[in-house]
Amino acid sequence: MPKVTFQYEDGTSTIVDVTAGENLLEVARKANVAIDAPCSGNGSCGKCRVRYISGELESEQTRHITDEDYAAGWRLSCCSKVTGDVTVLVPDIASAYKSRMKVADLSSPEEVAIFDRAKQDVADAGITFENEFTVVELQMTAPSLDDTMPDNERLSWAIEAATGIENVKLTYQVLKKLPDALEEFLKNHPEIKEIEICTDNDFAGRWAKEQMKKHYEGTYQIICNLPEKEGADYADLAKEKKQTNKCRDRPLERR
Ligand code: FES
Repeated sequence: MPKVTFQYEDGTSTIVDVTAGENLLEVARKANVAIDAPCSGNGSCGKCRVRYISGELESEQTRHITDEDYAAGWRLSCCSKVTGDVTVLVPDIASAYKSRMKVADLSSPEEVAIFDRAKQDVADAGITFENEFTVVELQMTAPSLDDTMPDNERLSWAIEAATGIENVKLTYQVLKKLPDALEEFLKNHPEIKEIEICTDNDFAGRWAKEQMKKHYEGTYQIICNLPEKEGADYADLAKEKKQTNKCRDRPLERR
């Protein structure tokens, strides 16, 4: 498993284990490493710079990084993919955030005590924190040839069933988390060695297939399973396969 070392200007560092192919900004976020990223990682603000020190990092040189800066090691973390052990320097601004911000760690009794004391101080001051958030546990069915509903619809339906809310619309931020959920699942299931990619055989489907393939090959054996016919929908293929299986399973009629 590759390691990413985030070095700070004050000489300290954060070291995290990652899956090969992970986006550097996402790794930083998960590890609570503060990197300025106002555009949320879509490559447009140019603020998420880190300085490459050593190791393996695949980075696109975008318009925000001049040739000179690139040669000096500057990379946009949101446009960088971790391909092996790598060390990067997190610039001053992030170091400043790091020393000013207290991220609740809660991994030791001391941290929990500090957090509880702070909560009590806030309550004693007459301030109450409330919000409308509700935590719901969802049960989702696994996709199959009988049920080829896309993941976003599967999730909306599960939320509707669990909450009684009608017409749930998923935001872009939620949709962006679906691949993270897959990553999490793969991390927790090291026995998985093979990934089968099933997308439509249209422009978007083929593009998605290529991106997934690029991301996972090297770590998993990849099987691409697109319908043969150009423009065909994977759901139609699944229906056809189901029909074929039904015919095969039906006992032969005796005459
Ligand atoms: S977060 Fe804006 S360019 Fe990377």
